[in-house]
Amino acid sequence: MKRILMVCLGNICRSPLAEGILKSKVDPNEITVDSAATSNYHIGSTPDPRSISTAILHNIDISDQRGRQFQVSDFDHFDKIYVMDNSNYRNVKALARDRKDIEKIDLILNTIFPGQDRDVPDPYYGGEDGFEKVYKMLDEACSNIASELSY
Ligand code: 4NP
Repeated sequence: MKRILMVCLGNICRSPLAEGILKSKVDPNEITVDSAATSNYHIGSTPDPRSISTAILHNIDISDQRGRQFQVSDFDHFDKIYVMDNSNYRNVKALARDRKDIEKIDLILNTIFPGQDRDVPDPYYGGEDGFEKVYKMLDEACSNIASELSY
């Protein structure tokens, strides 16, 4: 069993989508997928309605997810921690206890553009089209993650 954690700032826009998309591409008996926030802004909240509706357009239901904050113990419970942007990377890295923890963290778009450290843009303050753009990026990244996990 491999465990993958998706992390963003609020755990209501990007990481819930990443969680839902990756879950749709892997065998739940082999891969556990979860998501979390670096902030405490939306603990217990459902995903942003725009993330829910974008996912529905692609036949993915993320409405049962609830926001939670990243904890140091997540380094023990997950094999890989994909963050959405460089700010998330710094915030998660600041909680790492050792090199092993740090090595678990990667920017999710590095699975498409290795070593380029690109951000998944935060769609929170924009319109609905921003969510579809984010969806497409995360869909491509999660396809790469799923095929890497199947080796
Ligand atoms: P997310 O987007 O990190 O993709 O979930 C955000 C959600 C909420 C806020 C910022 C970003 N906020 O400031 O409340």
